[in-house]
Amino acid sequence: MKINAKQFDAIARTVFAPVYPVIAEQIIFHTGITRGTCLDLGCGSGYLGAAVARKTKLDMVFLDQSPEMLKLCARTIDENGLRGRAGLLPGDTGSIALPDGSVDLVISRGSIFFWEDLPQAFREIKRVLAPGGKTFIGGGFGNALLKQSIRLQMAERNQGKDQFGQKMRTNLGAEMRNRFEKNLHQAGISNYSILHDEDIGLWIMMEQPATPAVNKETGCIGAQ
Ligand SMILES: C[S@@+](CC[C@H](N)C(=O)[O-])C[C@H]1O[C@@H](n2cnc3c(N)ncnc32)[C@H](O)[C@@H]1O
Repeated sequence: MKINAKQFDAIARTVFAPVYPVIAEQIIFHTGITRGTCLDLGCGSGYLGAAVARKTKLDMVFLDQSPEMLKLCARTIDENGLRGRAGLLPGDTGSIALPDGSVDLVISRGSIFFWEDLPQAFREIKRVLAPGGKTFIGGGFGNALLKQSIRLQMAERNQGKDQFGQKMRTNLGAEMRNRFEKNLHQAGISNYSILHDEDIGLWIMMEQPATPAVNKETGCIGAQ
């Protein structure tokens, strides 16, 4: 499904604006990664990546399949004074144009629900993660209070209809978590944990081993 960039941005800049700094803090708290390279997958206008960059020393790569979104993201980079440490990368999560092991932190909010081939995206994420690299990928609205406030504001915009609340329940519910886990297993990824509760939302935290795994049978160094 194609997202209308201008319409999404109008909401992201206003209704969603308070969630980005809160999620940025959660990312830093749970991953502990503040230096190196951070990839924001399905970055949209780039508000989450910009919030993370402002609180860390990370260099940013903003990836999105939509040229319109990347145009809006360029504006965000400028507005946040990030020009010297941020780049735009057009592309799909199924084929990330970055070298193996080149990214320390992969973040992504609200985009995974649109990815067509989850196992392929997970394999690509694992490929680009550097030793010791981590992910914070999924969906959330910061905390239960912010989530409820956004749900009410969105219902007001939709003439009282709670479609957005229903979408929140689906995207952040138990079935979605099961879908993520099934696809992680399909991608051959076992080194992960899931953060999932009413406050934080639903996030996949993958972790690349700090030193390459040694195959016990062959003695060769290689991926898990
Ligand atoms: C709901 S928006 C979220 C934007 C941003 N992460 C945020 O939280 O404000 C989803 C974004 O994911 C992008 N997207 C969806 N599927 C994608 C894919 N397979 N590869 C790259 N970008 C994708 C869309 O173009 C859109 O910008």
